[in-house]
Amino acid sequence: MKEQDIKDLNVVVLTGAGISAESGIKTFRDSNGLWENHRIEDVATPEAYARDPELVHRFYNLRREQLEEVTPNAAHIALAKLEDAAKNFTLITQNVDDLHERAGSRNVLHIHGELKKLLNVKNNESYYFDGSVSKKDFLEVRPDIVWFGEAVKYSLEIDDAISNCHLFVCIGTSNVVYPAAGLVHTAKYNRAKCVELNLEQTPLSQLYDENRFGKASEIVPLFVDEIV
Ligand code: OAD
Repeated sequence: MKEQDIKDLNVVVLTGAGISAESGIKTFRDSNGLWENHRIEDVATPEAYARDPELVHRFYNLRREQLEEVTPNAAHIALAKLEDAAKNFTLITQNVDDLHERAGSRNVLHIHGELKKLLNVKNNESYYFDGSVSKKDFLEVRPDIVWFGEAVKYSLEIDDAISNCHLFVCIGTSNVVYPAAGLVHTAKYNRAKCVELNLEQTPLSQLYDENRFGKASEIVPLFVDEIV
């Protein structure tokens, strides 16, 4: 991208669990399909919530609590710097943690929801929540998390950002969960330069113009320093 100045570029970054791994949050596909020893279908589906809201809330209360023990790493911080330098910047994250915001990112689309938000099940209103849902509320509210079988959030905003982007950077995702994994197709169609930064190859690695493999906390700051 050296030939073009970052201040003239619209940048879209897609992040996955790999960017938060070094902050101490486990990735999904490293744990044999188990999440904190629960099967995904027991805690992350609408059916699971209907069957056992208590189990589901306890699981998300615990995950919300764990956020207090982690801090953003150098990769999250580098992306906040990239946002400051770019003409327009959209951060699309599959992560439900709040590490991007805590690192200083502002335009963040949490397409799979947020641990620090709840949904009122009656009126579907979402609101900020930083605590532990108590038993009396288990049927009134649910975590504002996109569960398996549910539609991702912010589809229109994503379409808009990807259609207008010059540089698309994908960081720390296994690129197997759609529609997030498919964003590279749209970015390529719109002639954006596509860069993948990940620990290892993914099924979509060949689609990218450039791949860099390594730990996010090392390769993301290096990449950002080269272009800002
Ligand atoms: P995954 O666990 O599927 O993939 C994490 C990726 O990050 C893998 O390719 C790892 O190699 C890579 N990785 C691990 N540590 C890294 C590090 N230190 N630096 C760089 N890369 C590293 O997580 P996601 O792709 O985010 O959806 O998973 C996507 C979605 O699958 C999640 O949002 C979740 C799950 O189903 C929902 O909950 C709806």
